[in-house]
Amino acid sequence: MPPRRLGTTPTDCVLFVDGEEVPAVAGEPVAVALAAAGRLVLGRSVKYHRPRGAACFAGRCDGCLMRVDGVPSKMTCRVPAAQGMRVETQNVLGSATVDLLSATDWFFPSGMNHHEMFTWNKAANRAMQSVARQIAGVGTLPDAPIEAPRPVERDVDVVVVGAGPAGLEVARGCAARGLRTVVVDEESVAGGHLATAPRRARSEGGADPEEAAHGLAREALSAGVELKLRHAAVAVHEPGPEGVVLLADGPDALLRVRARRIVLATGRQEGTWAFPGNDLPGVMGPDAAARLLQHGVLPGRRIVVSGDPDDTSLQALSAALAEAGAAVDGIHPRTALVAARGRTQVTRCDLARDGGTVSVPCDLLIVAAPSSAAYELAAQAGADVAWSGTGFEIDASPADGATKVPWTRVVGAASALTSAAAVRAQAEAAAAALASELAHD
Ligand code: FES
Repeated sequence: MPPRRLGTTPTDCVLFVDGEEVPAVAGEPVAVALAAAGRLVLGRSVKYHRPRGAACFAGRCDGCLMRVDGVPSKMTCRVPAAQGMRVETQNVLGSATVDLLSATDWFFPSGMNHHEMFTWNKAANRAMQSVARQIAGVGTLPDAPIEAPRPVERDVDVVVVGAGPAGLEVARGCAARGLRTVVVDEESVAGGHLATAPRRARSEGGADPEEAAHGLAREALSAGVELKLRHAAVAVHEPGPEGVVLLADGPDALLRVRARRIVLATGRQEGTWAFPGNDLPGVMGPDAAARLLQHGVLPGRRIVVSGDPDDTSLQALSAALAEAGAAVDGIHPRTALVAARGRTQVTRCDLARDGGTVSVPCDLLIVAAPSSAAYELAAQAGADVAWSGTGFEIDASPADGATKVPWTRVVGAASALTSAAAVRAQAEAAAAALASELAHD
């Protein structure tokens, strides 16, 4: 597979991936370095050993799990590359591309219920379970015991999860009103989709999205907001005497924030459709492809896009990919996508055309399916979450982000707002409401 690094960004470190040298740019995610080297197949699924690869580059799937420096199941899309890093495929007999354990998938083409296998005999069942334990799973124990991270404590008035436009606007508004405000975000840069998916902002207003992201972050910081990047919010605890507690997993420590209010600006996550081959490495959403492009890596050379042909952001992404040197085979409506094919990664797509099916060679299939609110923390906080038919949506006021939980607000795309103007107005109203509530608390 030829390398896909664009332009002249010099690589300045070397990773050892299953013993082979892979060049990387120090600090870029390991999964990006692997994609740049043309390595899309990174592991195998837990049970049937089907091929897996990075599908989101955002810590939201499990396709990029590998053993890094002796620690199993690291999300390599979240691990910064560093000189000499040891990266290993886990859960395979052979390699990620040739895994002998994938015979499991051939033996059980209609699936298997391991809970009931060999239950007619205790000894046979025990033997089956011990074999299954060797075959299934996600890696083996770490080389050395891992120390539990020391928690770092913070006491604030408002904690905001998400440093996208909505989160930064609310935080700036709160800090400007004298509230002690901290923002946590799992990314290494602030700005949310402006920083990681430039195609959307360009189609919205023509402004430079990265500059807009920097501007929002600068304004928030100068208002007094504390910004904790590379901190993934993992849990919200109900308020007790010390207020609501948010736990965020940082690069060096666990952050434990006690706050009087929490604002969730967690955005949305990409969906997919049900079709044969939708889990093959080389099938990803538009945001994942945009993230790779932004890191200077061509996501594919022959690309098929499936989604709404009138979606301007998808058109902008297709144009950016073509400009970067990819051959993009148009934007095909959802109804035209029949299947993705390939042994270990996508090599062609079957598309319905003229009453029949044509098979189009490709190495990347971009699937732009309806997205879902990133609802998990809102659900933990007790807000109402409902299935909309295409994804989960959080019940939050479009006016000021209020939910049925008095100490939790949900703003921005997570509350299903789409226009930048509506998000700004909601963020400003949320900040004003929080200042008023906390003044009377
Ligand atoms: S979780 Fe790493 S690519 Fe999805």
